[in-house]
Amino acid sequence: MRAVYPGSFDPVTNGHVDIIERAARVFDEVIVAVAPNRGKEPLFCIQERMEMLSEVCAHLKNVSVDSFEGLLVSYAERRQAGVIVRGLRAVSDFPYEFEMALMNRRLNPSIETVFLMTGAENAYLSSSVVKEVTALGGSIDGLAPDLVVERLRLKLQEEVRESEP
Ligand code: PNS
Repeated sequence: MRAVYPGSFDPVTNGHVDIIERAARVFDEVIVAVAPNRGKEPLFCIQERMEMLSEVCAHLKNVSVDSFEGLLVSYAERRQAGVIVRGLRAVSDFPYEFEMALMNRRLNPSIETVFLMTGAENAYLSSSVVKEVTALGGSIDGLAPDLVVERLRLKLQEEVRESEP
């Protein structure tokens, strides 16, 4: 069975890696698909997010990285994926995920959404928290892959330089 794990991944955190590794054990093939999220202003462009994901997933032979625009179910159909994987961290994720899963089911009843629980150590982790802590000078070591920690530091320095008169 081929599964799609969609998300913004801006940037990929250890929580995402945890879900990708779990999905790779459950499904024959996993496509990690980077999507623009209309509600969020991204820090990294799609290409940068894909590069980081590809490096981080290099050890997983049944995982590939891609991107898409438009409806997730149309993308899943095009890639012949029967499952959409989403990670759950806490009860607070549920209303948003429930809404998305039911809408996707309405759009295409033949594609199932499967939720995987993240490890407890990642329950409080999100891309937003990782970005905010880095921007404010805190350490995110151990919360995101090393290459992401470094890329985030460089990106935020770049942003500060660009905002200087
Ligand atoms: O990591 P995120 O930001 O929670 O991921 C959200 C994402 C990208 C999976 C979601 O916004 C999405 O599926 N976007 C594609 C557009 C779409 O199909 N929207 C209808 C789903 S209800």
